Amino acid sequence: ASNNLVNIVEVGPRDGLQNEKGVIPVDVKVELINRLARAGAQNIETGSFVSPKWVPQMGGTSEVITRMERLPGVRYAVLVPNQKGLDNLFTVLDETKLTPPISDEISIFTAATDAFTRANLNTTTAESLLRLEPVARAALDRGLRVRGYVSVAIACPYSGPVDFKRVREVAKALADMGCYEVSLGDTVGQGTPNKVAEMIEEVKKGVPVEKLAGHFHDTYGTAVANVFAALAQGVRTIDSSVGGLGGCPYSPGATGNVATEDVLYALRDSHYQVAGSNNGTINLDDMVNIGWWISEKLGRDSVSRAGRAIRAR
Ligand code: HMG
Ligand code: MG
Repeated sequence: ASNNLVNIVEVGPRDGLQNEKGVIPVDVKVELINRLARAGAQNIETGSFVSPKWVPQMGGTSEVITRMERLPGVRYAVLVPNQKGLDNLFTVLDETKLTPPISDEISIFTAATDAFTRANLNTTTAESLLRLEPVARAALDRGLRVRGYVSVAIACPYSGPVDFKRVREVAKALADMGCYEVSLGDTVGQGTPNKVAEMIEEVKKGVPVEKLAGHFHDTYGTAVANVFAALAQGVRTIDSSVGGLGGCPYSPGATGNVATEDVLYALRDSHYQVAGSNNGTINLDDMVNIGWWISEKLGRDSVSRAGRAIRAR
């Protein structure tokens, strides 16, 4: 590909924190988002408007996005599962009345298997797509961008290996309802580079590669390799999480997302450049510090390999 600019979508404040059991104060979430934005992150997923009964940790997202800084050149997104979540977001947007709004974008999500969609959204994949269509339309009508996720693009924790044709169909359905980008999630983190390449080759038959992103959990230690497999397929957007935080409450045993620090480090000396806000890039040392800062707030060490190595030198 002639375009070697890689976009990073920082999902730490959402995917990274959603699975944490302890209460994380709103102040900490706000500071995390602000630090990420100041480090050059261009796309930040700040939280979700899901049911607090299903994911208690994301219950404070209204307050988080109301209190965070809104830096120019940074795109802020929230995850929305249904009409109710969108209504709740619109209420916040109406109350704050900022231009641009405090959230530029929603992410909607479904999965390549019914078993996972049932666990995560309490419905089938087909029904979830029917429900999401008007949600996407209403968000687009309001001038928000819409991003889609297909979970369990490689393997499902409930039904095993996934049919990549199904991933293609679901990704195409999301693109057809107006998603500017569809992120392919290895939710379980079982993917290997060859499987990831095979999956993306199939999905490209339905959705142009310019609209695809890769979202890799690192359960088996293959996430950085999977990032490079996706890049080799022409994908130019990668989701990652500072400090390697993350996990889906409905994907038992899965660990965090690929660490932003590890992706930044691995892309050094390559022919790829990482896009940051305002035509800059993302600062690796800042990310390492943020990864340690948030991990210590959560009572542990950073699990980013680059973050640990850089801190130790
Ligand atoms: P449900 O129980 O079928 O919902 O859950 P319902 O429509 O029957 O409503 C039940 C109650 O929830 C009602 O309240 C609703 O008002 C309320 P009650 O009358 O009982 O008091 N409710 C809501 N409250 C706040 N916000 C809402 C909302 N919707 C309904 N949006 C539902 C269906 C979709 C709500 C639920 O399944 C849910 O919230 N799921 C989200 C699960 C989630 O957040 N998972 C993690 C994110 S996805 C992920 O991590 C994967 C990803 O990273 C990619 C990858 O790695 O693969 C993106
Ligand atoms: Mg995820």
